[in-house]
Amino acid sequence: MELLKGIRSIFIKALVCIMIISSLAACQSGNNSKQTSTSVNAVTSSPKSSTEITSTGSGQTIDQKVSDLLAKMTLDEKVGQMMQPTRDRLPASDIKKYFIGSVLSGGGSHPGNNTKEDWIQMCTDYQNAAKSTRLGIPIIYGIDAVHGHNTIYGAVVFPQNIGLGAAQDPELMTEIGNVTAQEMITSGVNWDFGPCIAVARDERWGRTYESYSESPDIVSSMCAPFIKALQANGITACAKHYVADGGAMFGVAGNKYPIDQGNAVISEDELRKIHLPGYEAAIKAGAKTIMASFSSWNGVKMHENKYLITDVLKGELGFKGFVVSDYEAVHQLKEGNLSNQVIACINSGVDMLMEPNHWKEIIGIIKDAVNSGKISKARLDDAVARILKVKFEMGLFENPLGDQKLAAGDFGEEKNREVAQKAVRESLVLLKNQKNVLPLKKNAKIFVAGPAANNVGIQCGGWTKTWQGGMDKNGSKWMEGTTILEGFQNMAKENGGTIITDPNKAKDADVTVLVIGEKPYAEYEGDDSKLDLYNGMALPENKKAIDEAKAAGKPIVTILISGRPRIVTNEINSWDAFVAAWLPGTEGAAITDVLYGDYDFTGKLSFTWPKSVGQLPINVDAMNGKDPLFPFGFGLKMKK
Ligand code: BGC
Repeated sequence: MELLKGIRSIFIKALVCIMIISSLAACQSGNNSKQTSTSVNAVTSSPKSSTEITSTGSGQTIDQKVSDLLAKMTLDEKVGQMMQPTRDRLPASDIKKYFIGSVLSGGGSHPGNNTKEDWIQMCTDYQNAAKSTRLGIPIIYGIDAVHGHNTIYGAVVFPQNIGLGAAQDPELMTEIGNVTAQEMITSGVNWDFGPCIAVARDERWGRTYESYSESPDIVSSMCAPFIKALQANGITACAKHYVADGGAMFGVAGNKYPIDQGNAVISEDELRKIHLPGYEAAIKAGAKTIMASFSSWNGVKMHENKYLITDVLKGELGFKGFVVSDYEAVHQLKEGNLSNQVIACINSGVDMLMEPNHWKEIIGIIKDAVNSGKISKARLDDAVARILKVKFEMGLFENPLGDQKLAAGDFGEEKNREVAQKAVRESLVLLKNQKNVLPLKKNAKIFVAGPAANNVGIQCGGWTKTWQGGMDKNGSKWMEGTTILEGFQNMAKENGGTIITDPNKAKDADVTVLVIGEKPYAEYEGDDSKLDLYNGMALPENKKAIDEAKAAGKPIVTILISGRPRIVTNEINSWDAFVAAWLPGTEGAAITDVLYGDYDFTGKLSFTWPKSVGQLPINVDAMNGKDPLFPFGFGLKMKK
């Protein structure tokens, strides 16, 4: 088996090398032919191939390389760099035709059958097209690798950020950054739309799980090592969503959705104290890109907040990378017509536009605006120079597909899964343990119940294979991985224990383990006004399982699989132990390592756990006399 794996890995590496070599050969010939192409007409200085540019660049500082290159660019070439269409609507020939600077995979978007070879082929085609343009500027390809390289079936999927905020282990964040980067390089993409450094302040928000914590300190200390690790591997990081995306509250009038993309009605003092520190930490860690937020601050959309983007981010905080807009966010600006929206957005300091549908039209808009002076030449050049600088700094000219020496042999390698298993163990928070029901005895008879007990898709949540994620169905797993039930079954098999799943036999058990949770969701789809165990994003089968567990009449250990605290104030009285497992990802079986006592619990709440939804917002630095169910920082150990 091992031998087979080895041969397979060598074969795949060889294939990738062949693809890259042929890609470089194609680049070379592309460059040569492009020098005589018609797009040269508009250029003032004599055209140079990409090889010449990189070679004249040797010995120069990056800033010199950037200004040299910029000086050679036509208006079309500059505006093209600022565009980011989506892969599914972008033939490689359009890259060449429009000098496109970036491409993205929207949530779940993948080439062919989503195999490593499909990805390498697509990225090679795009990079070849880019290299075959007159100036041969490589593409920066963005994807949401927000808990591992989660778009790819077979990739290692880590706990969502909320679980990593509970783990509070900066070294683990470095390991996760390394694995994520290596799996990304395996597919040939070079830009991660992460980390999300939102400081979520209202758990009704569908993106709470993308947030490490309600506390800016935890957000800062988790994001910095992750950014450093990604970028040390040549993957560009993108801190998002600038700024105060987590500051919107439920029910604020004028929002498109109940809370997502909403309006943060907060003072500048609060914005600076709570939501800005993550960006200071990200910039200090070297983050090269930042994504603007869909949301507003006191009624002004972030995408047109010149004060926050240009004055504060680029000025005061000294951010030298580039700012990318969020998916079609420009179209939400108050100006109403696309032309004025784009002008307002770029003049506010956004440098690149994520535009799946309107990019061709927007190219025309920007060109007209530059020609008429509505966007200054200086602003245009600043945007393009920032993009080029990141491409130079990240080594894209040398390694457009990433440094393949750093690639993982394949997706989901065992050693990388072990990092995720460690992350799962560290992310668990023990909130109640009456009469020491935990740790479980390894030879115990255990009734494992509940809709989240045997479902990798539920464990992973949103941003897994697809934008919204999905559930295991008809015996087929949404993602390769292990379930919590499988963890129990393995442990019992090795130690003479018994696992019961039939509710009719529940009474034979010594203890019941009840695993309830939430459906997978992402963004506004996850906004939830009640946060109880039965409505909104709660799994509809929770109720039946809770009742079955009670009926069994044995001690109950409840594990909650959720992207945020949910209200358990009544139910917890009938549970002997309660574990918040967040959204642990593909390595569900690692939960049982802790439940059986091979490891102790170390996780601490990075969010205050409310008693009722009426207590929201409830945050450690703004308790206003409210008494939560569990305070921020709470987390028990089994061993005294
Ligand atoms: C999300 C971003 C994401 C982008 C690209 C948007 O809907 O708000 O977080 O990076 O899509 O997938």
